[in-house]
Order: sequence, then C-alpha cells, then structure tokens
Amino acid sequence: MSETGFSPEQIDTTTPNPARMYDYYLGGLDNYAVDRAAAERVLGHAPFIRPTAQGNRDFHHRAVRTVVESGIRQIIDIGTGIPTSPNTHEVARAIAPQTRVVYVDNDPIVATYAGAKLTNSDNASFVLADLREPEAILDHPTTQNLIDFDQPVALMLVAVMHFIRDDEEPGKIVSEVTSRLPKGSCLILSHVTDDVDEGEEGANAAEVYKNSTAQLIMRSYDEVLPFFNGFELIEPGLVKPPLWRPDGPVPSEHELVDHRGYAGVGFKGGA
Ligand SMILES: C[S@@+](CC[C@H](N)C(=O)[O-])C[C@H]1O[C@@H](n2cnc3c(N)ncnc32)[C@H](O)[C@@H]1O
Repeated sequence: MSETGFSPEQIDTTTPNPARMYDYYLGGLDNYAVDRAAAERVLGHAPFIRPTAQGNRDFHHRAVRTVVESGIRQIIDIGTGIPTSPNTHEVARAIAPQTRVVYVDNDPIVATYAGAKLTNSDNASFVLADLREPEAILDHPTTQNLIDFDQPVALMLVAVMHFIRDDEEPGKIVSEVTSRLPKGSCLILSHVTDDVDEGEEGANAAEVYKNSTAQLIMRSYDEVLPFFNGFELIEPGLVKPPLWRPDGPVPSEHELVDHRGYAGVGFKGGA
C-alpha cells in the first residue's frame, strides 16, 4: 500500500485509462500498451489531440505562475493527472517556495505516481477523491490540514470538467467545489471543445474514450463560460489555451485550428 492509500496491484492495465493516455500525448512514459493503442486510435481520428494536450499543459504552467505572482499561496489541483514535470507545486514554488498544494484525482494510478513524485516534499499532498463529491475533497483531513479557507485559494480544474457528463450536473459541481473559497480566490479552468470541428473528428475521438474508464464530453464556448459564474475572468478572458497570456511565439491561425479547447482564469470578488 502506498502512502496515498492505494496499492499498485489494484491497477487495471487491461482498460485504456485517460490519465495514462494524456501522459502518452505529452510524450510521457507512464502508460501501458492498452493506453497507447487507444491513444493512437484517438490520434488517428483526431490528430489535434496532441497539440491540444500540449497547449493545455503550457496554459496550466502560465496560469499557476500568474496566480502565484498575484499573491496566492495555496492551491487545490483537481484532476492532477500523472505527474509531468514541472508539476503545479514546482511551478508555484519557483516563485513562492512556501506555496501549499493539494493534488486531487480519482484515478488510483495517479495516486500511485503521486506518492513517488508529488508528495515527496513538505506542504504538497495527494487526495484520492472524486470531483463529483466536492465535500469529500473539501472536508478531507489532508485538505483541511494544508488549506486555510480564510485565505485566498487557487482551485484548478484543468482539463477535467470534460470527464463530467451533463446529467452529473457539472455546473453544480463547480459551484459546490468553489463554494468555500473566500474573496480573492481564483478558478483556473480549461476544457476541450468541438466548436471548431469541421468534420467527425471530435465525435470520433469522444467515441474512443467511451471504451476507456471515463467519457470525454466536448463543450462549446457558451457551455464552458458558465463554469466561471461567480468569478470575474481576467484578461484575455476565455480563449484557446495558447492565446492565454502567451510567454513565447503564438501559433499561427492555421495552427490554432488544432488547439481544440478553452481556458481561462477568474477571480472571486474581482481580481
Ligand atoms: C487530461 S488529465 C489533466 C491533467 C492536468 N490537470 C493537466 O491539465 O495537465 C485529466 C485528469 O482528470 C482526472 N479525472 C477525471 N475525472 C475525474 C473526477 N471525476 N474526479 C477527479 N479526477 C478526475 C483523470 O484521472 C486525469 O488524471
């Protein structure tokens, strides 16, 4: 049993797993043959997934930097994924070494890797919990130990809401999981979309995910924007991830077609 409460023998290596597929898109090595085969099928139908994943991860880093530079010193990163350096606490601590981070994911394999790669430093811990049960995350002793809900918190829902189906009431989940955040807290969120899809690609990619341990739900700009209810989006608003405060060259119009997602950062009670 690892320190995150999960034993590696319990890992299912026969069903494609979204966290491990995402790791494969990003060029990671923490995936199995079944994940690589499913990921290659997705890429065959939807080659945009790889630039979309990389653009999302780069947004993740810039957003963490931005909110830590704004003064935030505690982060809850839900839908952590398999650790990919630099991880949230590494990005944050390059600016403010005292930043506290709670990582949350419902995937046991992420829990296993988190034990080795994320929680081996002070003030960073992992919680194996499901976003669909917000109270279990907020009330968890690890969260309660590390997070002071009287001080601003950055809550991250980066590339995770598209695993929540409409009938699971994703809007209600976001509002519950952000309900205890005080003024000055922020929401960092990104989501895949098929808004720009000109063919069957998005639907085909979603079809492959149906056989994995989680489904992939594409949402439009108008469906993603309400997740920020109660938060004021900072510039440049809800945009394609590479266009969110770029710190290097921006993809061309043509390349941007392959970035099928939206990303934004909002502050509670104004920035
Ligand atoms: C695509 S990865 C995103 C990783 C990271 N946030 C990033 O953007 O680079 C999505 C992660 O969300 C996790 N996830 C999916 N549904 C979840 C849920 N209901 N509760 C908690 N985590 C979930 C998956 O296990 C996976 O690790």
